[in-house]
Amino acid sequence: MLVKEIIRKKRDGGELSEQEINTLIEGLSDNSVSREQISAFTMAVYFKSMTTAEISTLTRAMINSGSRLDWQQQDLGGPVVDKHSTGGVGDKVSLMLAPMIAACGGYVPMISGRGLGHSGGTMDKMEAIPCYNVTPDLNRMKQVVKNVGCAIIGQTAELAPADRIIYGVRDMTATVESVALITASILSKKISAGLDALVMDIKVGNGAFMATEEEADELATSIIRTARENHMPTHAVLTSMDEVLGRNAGNALEVKETLDYLSGRERDSHLHEVVMALTTEMLLLTKLAGDRAEAMDKLQTVLENGRAMETFAKMIAELGGPKDFVEKPEKYLAVAPVIKPVYAKGKGYISAIDVRGIGNLIVSLGGGRDAPGQELDMAVGLTDAARIGEYVDGEKPVAMIHARTQNNADQIVAEMQNCYGLSDKPQKAPKLIRKLIT
Ligand code: URA
Repeated sequence: MLVKEIIRKKRDGGELSEQEINTLIEGLSDNSVSREQISAFTMAVYFKSMTTAEISTLTRAMINSGSRLDWQQQDLGGPVVDKHSTGGVGDKVSLMLAPMIAACGGYVPMISGRGLGHSGGTMDKMEAIPCYNVTPDLNRMKQVVKNVGCAIIGQTAELAPADRIIYGVRDMTATVESVALITASILSKKISAGLDALVMDIKVGNGAFMATEEEADELATSIIRTARENHMPTHAVLTSMDEVLGRNAGNALEVKETLDYLSGRERDSHLHEVVMALTTEMLLLTKLAGDRAEAMDKLQTVLENGRAMETFAKMIAELGGPKDFVEKPEKYLAVAPVIKPVYAKGKGYISAIDVRGIGNLIVSLGGGRDAPGQELDMAVGLTDAARIGEYVDGEKPVAMIHARTQNNADQIVAEMQNCYGLSDKPQKAPKLIRKLIT
């Protein structure tokens, strides 16, 4: 079967058979399918979409491209559970969520991705921690999950390697926003990780891949349906991406915000609301808590008694990072040489934020990739991000830019001003937790 004929069939809106999909995905391992062909295929799927049956087949083919974890022999004594986000700007939730769930008795083998399009990636954020190994072998990863309760790692050659290749191609070719491709990408990683349960954070808003609630609903339904076919109970929470989540965006800056959150030094209220909504759902889905009140109580306890922070520190040390990282982050996290305030073009209440635009500006500062395999500048990004409803003027900036050079900073400042709409009337903050789908 000629690969180009399979691509042509999808390009013309046809439904691909199991054999055709398997030919494409298996061809990634033996290089009989080129990156150019996969790139054309993803664009065809972007425009022509896939049926439910095709999505299931694609997901299975991507799972079968690697191995699948089995936790039975580890005798963990608790449920194996994870959360995955469809991606946004400033979304560092995974970094605090994994140790919080571990401290509550769950086990979290978190296979994360790199930045995708304008959105940041958990794997990149963890790489801001010097010597932290995001690609341990599977045995090491299993040991860390057993000893610590969680391991945040990246995609390895062993689990869903087909996704690693397709993900990289989509990142460079504007083919991210596809229900079929997002479903198969996320679930191939999560099902390969051998989870008992999954909670999906489906981002909705202009900084998300699904801009409207209808699109987010469609994606949630596709993910829940495909997960169920693979016997992995899954709930989805639709959360807002109409603002940067929390106050910082950029790899090292988000790690810093995570430490502030876990230590209680500074816990941004919007970030906290999203973290609590997702972690609560994880405790309920795995029966680690009987009801919402019990879940919230357990989560608040592990934040306050320091167990969540201890777990984060232990995970970092076990995966090769500095043993004193959480005590002395300033010794290890990269800091940008230029820090500059950005003021809005006028004064007033923020009425709209172009979050995708802000994500792309972070990419152009060097915090995300513009070419495959590009090395990231861990230090750059923004802090003190203002949100919808906040009043800004010549004294109160919309954000502080962290840049490598003065020149970079000056260019970004002008573009960033265009990302904020202002009104002279007070504005209502957007609803953060939009919907729960079970
Ligand atoms: N996260 C993933 O892992 N894959 C996608 O396609 C989008 C978000």
